[in-house]
Amino acid sequence: MVLSYASPHSAPTLLKVLSDATRMRALALLALEELSVGELARCLGMAQSRVSNHLRVLREHDLLDERRAGTSTYLRSAAVNARPDSSLGRLWLALAPDLSELPEHQSDRLRLGAVLADRHADERAFFDRVAGDWDKVGALFEKGTARERAAAQLLPQGIVLADLGCGTGYVARSLAGLCERLICVDRSAGMLEEAQGRMKDITPDRATVEFRQGELDALPLADAELDGAVAAMVLHHLPELSPALQEMRRVLKPGGTLSIVELMPHHEAWMHQDLGDRHLGLEPAAIQQALNRAGFVDVIVEPLEDRYCPQPGPDGPTGAESRATAPRGDVALPLYLVRGRAPQS
Ligand SMILES: C[S@@+](CC[C@H](N)C(=O)[O-])C[C@H]1O[C@@H](n2cnc3c(N)ncnc32)[C@H](O)[C@@H]1O
Repeated sequence: MVLSYASPHSAPTLLKVLSDATRMRALALLALEELSVGELARCLGMAQSRVSNHLRVLREHDLLDERRAGTSTYLRSAAVNARPDSSLGRLWLALAPDLSELPEHQSDRLRLGAVLADRHADERAFFDRVAGDWDKVGALFEKGTARERAAAQLLPQGIVLADLGCGTGYVARSLAGLCERLICVDRSAGMLEEAQGRMKDITPDRATVEFRQGELDALPLADAELDGAVAAMVLHHLPELSPALQEMRRVLKPGGTLSIVELMPHHEAWMHQDLGDRHLGLEPAAIQQALNRAGFVDVIVEPLEDRYCPQPGPDGPTGAESRATAPRGDVALPLYLVRGRAPQS
């Protein structure tokens, strides 16, 4: 081994510094783990003042990397990150295999195990202590999109979704976290404007959002433009199911999914006028059959635990009359989900 006398870690100096057994033990420990001075003293079974004297010598010879965290300083052996062709790197490579031969090394490592176990217990205890207050002190983000972006990485990239009959954009908002491009379709310019307002904070780095005015039975979408689409609370507005479902099948890629939320048939007649509903809910079997006729496969129907709790409209077409007959606050209508897939070919 050729050691350079010109380097700051000149060989005779290094050998002199490392000829002390305590300093070698300290460096051996600090090559294994980053430790605070107190933790190192515990591992060595020595008073902190004695250890500090040795650390001063190691520091003077640039043999320690240090990191401050609050009131603590954490130490690491500089040899760990030394270039293998530097004097320190080569000397350490030569010495490291024999460190376990040091008589105290085994007991140092046992104490290191206990120190690290205590450190982990302290870290766990810290989070146990603050868990109840964490959402007040450590959970806020400027935009609140960072975690959603991380979650979106788990999905296939380049996904295009649509909210069909998007209304004011409730569903669209939650779809934005799941796709690269989102298309919101509604026949009403007023609804699209509301949806645009609800989604104005969704920036293109999250999802590109488009708003297209159009009819469900003549969708303003290209053939196979979508990987998936939601049609929530909209089919009961249609005079006929089949034309709209055939359109939905056309705009889905092979294998793409359509997800429908609908109301079970009900008797809240005031909803015709106050909420513009054409049908008072729809039979699940009617949607299922229409999907099959439109060529969808793997069609399933599931009840939903949620309930729809509509209020009489303040400016509904029938105004005071309908409000007088409508129940207040106690309508909770059962909902169900229907899902179908466009066939692969
Ligand atoms: C009850 S809202 C539901 C909105 C939204 N999907 C939701 O879950 O909150 C129904 C929406 O469907 C739209 N709509 C009704 N019939 C339509 C049609 N034939 N073509 C396109 N949009 C339609 C209405 O303009 C309205 O915005």
